[in-house]
Amino acid sequence: MTDKPKLMVVIASTRPGRIGLPVGEWFEAHAREHGGFDLDLADLAAIDLPFMDEPKHPRLREYTHQHTKDWSARVEAADAFAFVHPEYNYGMNAPLKNALDYLNAEWKYKPLGLVSYGGVSAGTRAAQMIKQVVTTLGMFPLFEAVSIPFVAEFVGEGGAIVPNQVMEKAATAMLDELVRVSAAFAQLRAA
Ligand SMILES: Cc1cc2nc3c(=O)[nH]c(=O)nc-3n(C[C@H](O)[C@H](O)[C@H](O)COP(=O)(O)O)c2cc1C
Repeated sequence: MTDKPKLMVVIASTRPGRIGLPVGEWFEAHAREHGGFDLDLADLAAIDLPFMDEPKHPRLREYTHQHTKDWSARVEAADAFAFVHPEYNYGMNAPLKNALDYLNAEWKYKPLGLVSYGGVSAGTRAAQMIKQVVTTLGMFPLFEAVSIPFVAEFVGEGGAIVPNQVMEKAATAMLDELVRVSAAFAQLRAA
């Protein structure tokens, strides 16, 4: 542990063979090199939340299931988020929406960077949908984003992502802004 803020990098896709895993691993490595944050890589496939099964509204924080308590503690510990997400049928994927719906105050007053990928749209239609949802939870989605079009073209022979300069510059700009904004929001949460 350091005194750096904590960035949770969420891998949103849960499909076997998902491209989201190498994209998330590339982004996490880039964030580690950036050095502005301690990192928590949250892979929604590994976390394996069931469909939202809490009887009470999450704003009450009266959770009945251990999986919710664990997810709550992990999200609460984060100061900022980066969602590495696909676009499914012009929208956000269901496991990400489910993971958001489980909690409420744990997301509040925290900034979010979006790393989207897809075909020609680079996942940006899903990103717009995510912005609408997360502002309801009091998150602050950044303008700075990593938008990867034709993502399959960036998968190298070993399966890892081979980024171009545009992706690397965008990731650095987003991380720089996440550091600045998370510091301001930490003060707001403490007040
Ligand atoms: C159910 C489904 C819906 C999709 N819809 C879109 C879409 O709306 N826009 C797009 O650019 N790509 C779409 N794709 C293609 C995805 O961009 C591509 O399969 C990508 O690898 C999905 O991310 P993942 O492998 O991390 O799950 C879709 C793929 C799936 C499986």
